[in-house]
Amino acid sequence: MGHILITGADGYLGRQVAARLLRDTDDRLTLTVRTADPGRRAALADLLDDRRVDVVPADVRDADPFAAVDAAGVTTIVHAAAVTAFNVDAPTALAVNVEGTAKVAAFARRCPRLTRLLALSTLFAAGRRTGTVTETRHDDTAGFVNHYEWSKWAAERRLLTEADAAGLPLTVARLATIVAEDGTGTVGQYNAFHNTLKLFCYGLLSLMPGDPKTPLYLATAEFTARGLAHLARPDVPSGIYHLAPAPEEAAPLGELVDLAFDVFERDPGFRRRRLLRPAFCDIDGFRDLVEGTRGFGASPMRQALDSVSPFAEQMFLAKDFDSTRLRTAWPAAPATDTRRLVEATCTHLVTTRFGRRAP
Ligand SMILES: NC(=O)c1ccc[n+]([C@@H]2O[C@H](COP(=O)([O-])OP(=O)(O)OC[C@H]3O[C@@H](n4cnc5c(N)ncnc54)[C@H](OP(=O)(O)O)[C@@H]3O)[C@@H](O)[C@H]2O)c1
Repeated sequence: MGHILITGADGYLGRQVAARLLRDTDDRLTLTVRTADPGRRAALADLLDDRRVDVVPADVRDADPFAAVDAAGVTTIVHAAAVTAFNVDAPTALAVNVEGTAKVAAFARRCPRLTRLLALSTLFAAGRRTGTVTETRHDDTAGFVNHYEWSKWAAERRLLTEADAAGLPLTVARLATIVAEDGTGTVGQYNAFHNTLKLFCYGLLSLMPGDPKTPLYLATAEFTARGLAHLARPDVPSGIYHLAPAPEEAAPLGELVDLAFDVFERDPGFRRRRLLRPAFCDIDGFRDLVEGTRGFGASPMRQALDSVSPFAEQMFLAKDFDSTRLRTAWPAAPATDTRRLVEATCTHLVTTRFGRRAP
């Protein structure tokens, strides 16, 4: 029997991966969480029913966050803890995402039975580069759109350096943006994707910064958690993987915005608002708009622009994420129908009024 440690276990993906590993393995699970607040335990209620599970508080900003975990028995580490907001400030991104990850690697070095250190990263660790992006380590020459991207890249670099030096069985899984639980389109966690659609749906944003041809790589939590559980297995080769749809499964931004409006326009409430589809603008035009509304205080429009600004530039930087390694290591990886996924997700968003109503 193995012993799996999951960081950020009460986060969105931490919970999903924990549930899948409980189902798929006989292993014991130690779930580490930032805060010992009993209120937060509710998020883990389903998992805590299982006697194989224990919970340990571990804030990765602490000097030795995993001091309470017995390293001798740990066979697998899944590192899911991170600050995931695109507008995270640089010091927080450094302390949690970069230095926190280095502490996970330091703990991994103390685990003599370790067969896999699986770190969750993002496709956006590629930063501003364009064109084909391979499942290899990136340098930072292209630069980054925000501190989140930079910190995920810097975390990868720390891990890869540590793994080389200490022979750690490291896998870096670069994830796509998760928009729904599964093919039903049910939304389990709201992020920049949903928030931007909400702004369109309520007429708070009429411009879309981006090139309509930029491909979007979107996934479900089910696909991602299944893939992570697969990549955590000791018999699967370690290394860097794009846990994402294949390039031919991604869909262009312009088409997906149109598809979203096709769904919105089926709703009588939306039709009554008589909103036009957003116009695509260039990055300078969008920045002018952001600058020009600086004096508007905390108006809804100002908030809308602030929520889109941290990732807007990425919508101009077309990338094709090669996932040949993933598909070789995980031949059963399910296909993603991005258009159908976006249609189902938008239907869920409209039916639930963006989460305010039961479906
Ligand atoms: N979801 C996506 O679409 C997506 C896409 C690409 C990559 N990823 C990556 O996948 C991983 C998990 O993402 P997620 O969507 O599950 O994010 P999430 O729901 O925000 O969960 C993040 C977890 O990290 C914990 N955490 C934050 N600061 C911490 C600290 N100082 N010490 C210990 N734990 C801390 C959070 O705890 P608190 O809530 O208590 O702070 C939370 O449990 C991240 O590495 C993210 O970059 C996610």
